[in-house]
Parts: sequence; C-alpha cells; structure tokens
Amino acid sequence: MIRQGRIQVDGRTVTAPEEKIDETCAVISVDGGTISNFGASYYMMDKPGGVVTATEDRTEKTVMDLLPSNLWRLRLFPVGRLDKDTTGLLLLTNDGDFAHQIISPKSHVQKSYVAKVDGIPDEADVRAFRDGVVLKDGTVCLPAGLEIDGTDTCRVILQEGKYHQVKRMLAARGKPVLQLRRVSIGGLQLDETLSPGSIRALSEEERQLALVKLPL
Ligand code: URA
Repeated sequence: MIRQGRIQVDGRTVTAPEEKIDETCAVISVDGGTISNFGASYYMMDKPGGVVTATEDRTEKTVMDLLPSNLWRLRLFPVGRLDKDTTGLLLLTNDGDFAHQIISPKSHVQKSYVAKVDGIPDEADVRAFRDGVVLKDGTVCLPAGLEIDGTDTCRVILQEGKYHQVKRMLAARGKPVLQLRRVSIGGLQLDETLSPGSIRALSEEERQLALVKLPL
C-alpha cells in the first residue's frame, strides 16, 4: 500500500516502507481515511524549577514550553500542579478521565515528596502528620505520612492535594520548606534518569501504576 501511494503519515504521502515514524503521535491514513491517532497519550516529565505548571501564561515560562514540537499536536496538559519552584514528577496527558482519577480529592492516589526543610523533623512531627496537621489558617489535613532520616530532609506522603500543601504542613510544624521535589504518584516513581525538563512516554504498566492506591 505504501508503494501504491495509499498511506499518509500526518497528511503526507509516504513512499519508503523503511521510513521510521513516531507511533506515539503519528496520524496514519489509508486512502485518506484515518486509521489511528493512537488515542490517549501519557507522559512523565522531571519538572525543573522556574517554570509554572499551566498550559499558558502571559509572563512566565510554562511546562508546555518544554515539550518537543512533535508532541504539540497531542494537546497534552499537566495533571495537577506543582509550584514554580517545585521539581520532579509531573504527568502530562490528553486523557481527562485519567487526570481526574489522579487529582480528584476523592481518589486518594498518594503523592510523595522529598522536602529539604529549615529544621530537623522529629517524631512529634511524624505523629502530627499521622493525626492530621492543622494548618495556620485552621484547615485540618487528612492523615499523611512523614518519614525522617535524622537530617533536614524528609519524605512526605499525601493522599490529598491542597494548595501549597506540603509547604503549609511543614510550616505549621515550624519547619519551613527550602526545596521540594515530587518523587511518586500512586505506585509510579519518577524516572531519575530523565534530565530536568525532559519528558518520556509512560508504558501501559506505568500508566496503571500511577492510579494504584497504596495504604499510608
Ligand atoms: N505541595 C506544595 O507545597 N507544593 C507543591 O508544588 C506540591 C505540593
């Protein structure tokens, strides 16, 4: 069919059967009819600091500005939000249901973060996290995990996603956050071989891992 000129990739007739295409985003047509747009797409990014998590912004650079041009047509959007100075695991998709399952407050999909703080988290902080931290404005948080290693870094495991939640929880404990990095969503870990700002597709297994609900 390629030799007969019946196959188009992204609207262009291909003539060489050996031509390589990016099957994650190519639109393939036979005799002018699309046979695959490969449906929904799922990516992870190691979000760098200094960019905002938004699809567009008048003044700030966004995570979308970091996407390679061959992915623009997928209409990806970020799943949830990381602060401008927060780094680490950010999912991007064009699947609204998937995004909703990850970020809905009712879904209880865990997100975990490594935080460097001003202070040394202790057992009293661990208990407070387990009982539900009361933020400075009186908001009560759901029980959360806090793992300490005796230094100024700790791991925070949340099952909800309030605005600036990790920073506000640790500030409420008198340990303001200096650096924050998200390292997992559900059972999916950030691929630490990604360089900051780069992106790669998730495997189907990884996509499902992101939805796994783990006990705290
Ligand atoms: N909590 C925060 O405070 N900031 C983030 O970016 C994510 C969680």
